[in-house]
Formats: sequence, structure tokens, C-alpha cells
Amino acid sequence: MFLGLLFLGACKTPEGKIQLKRDVFIDTNVTLNRIAFGSCNNEGKEQDIWSAIVDTDPNLWVWLGDNIYGDSYDMSVLAAKYDQQLRHPEYQRLLDHSPIIGIWDDHDYGVNDGGKEYRKKEESQKLMLDFLGVPENAPVRKRKGTYQSYTIGEPGKQVKFILLDTRYFRDPLESDLLSKQRYKPNVDGDVLGEKQWKWLEKELTDSKAQVHIIASSIQLISAEHYWEKWANFPKARKRFFDLIEKTKPALPLILSGDRHIAELSKFQPDGLDYPIYELTSSGLTHTWSSPGEEANQHRIGSLVIKRNFGLLEIDWSSELPKLQISVRGTEGQVFLDETLSY
Ligand SMILES: [Fe+2]
Repeated sequence: MFLGLLFLGACKTPEGKIQLKRDVFIDTNVTLNRIAFGSCNNEGKEQDIWSAIVDTDPNLWVWLGDNIYGDSYDMSVLAAKYDQQLRHPEYQRLLDHSPIIGIWDDHDYGVNDGGKEYRKKEESQKLMLDFLGVPENAPVRKRKGTYQSYTIGEPGKQVKFILLDTRYFRDPLESDLLSKQRYKPNVDGDVLGEKQWKWLEKELTDSKAQVHIIASSIQLISAEHYWEKWANFPKARKRFFDLIEKTKPALPLILSGDRHIAELSKFQPDGLDYPIYELTSSGLTHTWSSPGEEANQHRIGSLVIKRNFGLLEIDWSSELPKLQISVRGTEGQVFLDETLSY
């Protein structure tokens, strides 16, 4: 097990350079009070949001995908872009401050809206894990797919992170040129693949954690919009919510990215006597070029069309931890602020 190791920082060389290949260790005994997260980060665009993120003093940073815009079958291109990201002094401030964990989405996977057919996925997985600093002996290094879990905190104050891989095993999508949707529903198609589903069920079953954060690059609850989403795979989406109903994890919060917007959604499946929340936070370096609106019957509060990151603050002082989420901008300004009630 590598989870009990100590966080040692960003592992700089004696010359002070950041290495693509380095080990980031996570101290699993730390009580998490502030968790920051975000997605959609073009390594070639201005990296001026990291100061605002570091200023929130997060105990942990969670990448939610499109961490770079790799978009290539050439692994030297992906490696160079990861390296470029790691060398940004602004990003190095975060690396010096917080341990990081995360997931990928399509652009860092290597192909826009890509799935299991991407032929460079094994090589790309290695580069992604190197970028995150996942130690060489971590179980995820030995299996296909980047899904992982971390349980952090002393007993009674534990947060379990379930990091999904929505790319490696995802069935193909077919363009829909005749409707207001980008893709036709893949009615029997899957997102996670059987091995990851079995792993997910095991992670959720009898979990002792007080808070469950499930990271999914694409949106799970919001189902009406044009873009990629779990709703393109209705059977897989239903299977996910059925699994939450069956396993009943405490305080479930989904974190997603991908969309270049931020929004909070709330959904309560029939068989669950408390809701599931989803906070989408995207993007760190770019957003929609003009104002817009889109339907989401589950949205709480406003649709944020500004560059942003997300912050989860946990108040452990009562028996049921209090979860406060916010969406913040490049100057730390607050666009969305909600206390989640379960
Ligand atoms: Fe994406």
C-alpha cells in the first residue's frame, strides 16, 4: 500500500527543476478542511489562476481532466505539454503547497471526445500518472485504466476520493447531425467497463468514510445539454445511480469538469433518502467566449460562465460534517457559494 506515505512536496531536483517523473506522496492521516479542484487547463494559455487557488490554502488539489490539451497520437507531444505545465512558476506554487491527485478527460487522454478506441491509451496512461506524480509502486501503475481511490483523514473524519476513468473503456459515440444533440444515445453502451464497475462497487460497499467524493470528468447529473455527458449512455448512467442507491455512501458529492462552465446540480434517486450533489468546475484557462444559457433541471443557483476553480470546505465540528462548496475566479472572487444539505 502506498497510501500511508508522507507528502514530500513536488520533488524538485537539486537544481530546483520540476521533473515529469517524480513521486508525490499523500499523507492519509491529515484531516482535510479545504479541497480545491478544477479542469480544462490549456498549458499554452495564461496560468494566472494558481495564486488565487494557493491563497485558499487547500490541503489537496484534485485535477478533474483536460489537465493539458495534448490531443495527439504522438507521445512526445503529450510529454512536452505535461512538462510545459509542470514548469509554469505559477503552477509550481501549487505543487509546493499541496499534494495533488486527479483524473483525465479527453484532451489529456489524447483525442477529443475519445474513448476505448484510442490506440495510444496505455502510453498516455503512463504519462498522466507521471504528471500526477503517482508512485511507481501504486496499484494503478499495474492495471489498465487510471481509476484510483484514496481515503484521507483519521477515523471519524475521513474523505474517500473515488477517481473514475471515463475514457479508457468508454464505448464509441456516433455523431447526431439531425437533432440538437452532438451524439446519438448509445443505448447499451458503457462508460466504465466491467472491471471498473466491480472495483467501484467494492469501493462504495461498506465504506467507513464520512464524505464520498466521486470524480468524473464528464457530467453525470446534467443531462439535457448538447455536449458529451453520461446521459449519452443512459444504461450506464442508470447503473451508476442504482449503485449509489444500493451502496448508500455517506455524503456523496460528484466533481466534474470538461464543460467550460461551472454549476451545482442536485439529484435524489427514488431509492435514496438523501440527495447526490454534483459540482462542475471548468475551465481554469478558458471559458465560453460569449454569454449563454443551457437547460439543467437539476441546477441549483446560477450557471457560471467565467474562468474558475472549485473549493470544498468541510466543517467537522458536528456529527454530520458540513460541506460548503464555492466556485471562484482568477482573483478569488466567489461566483457560487452553497452549503450542501443532505
Ligand atoms: Fe473534455
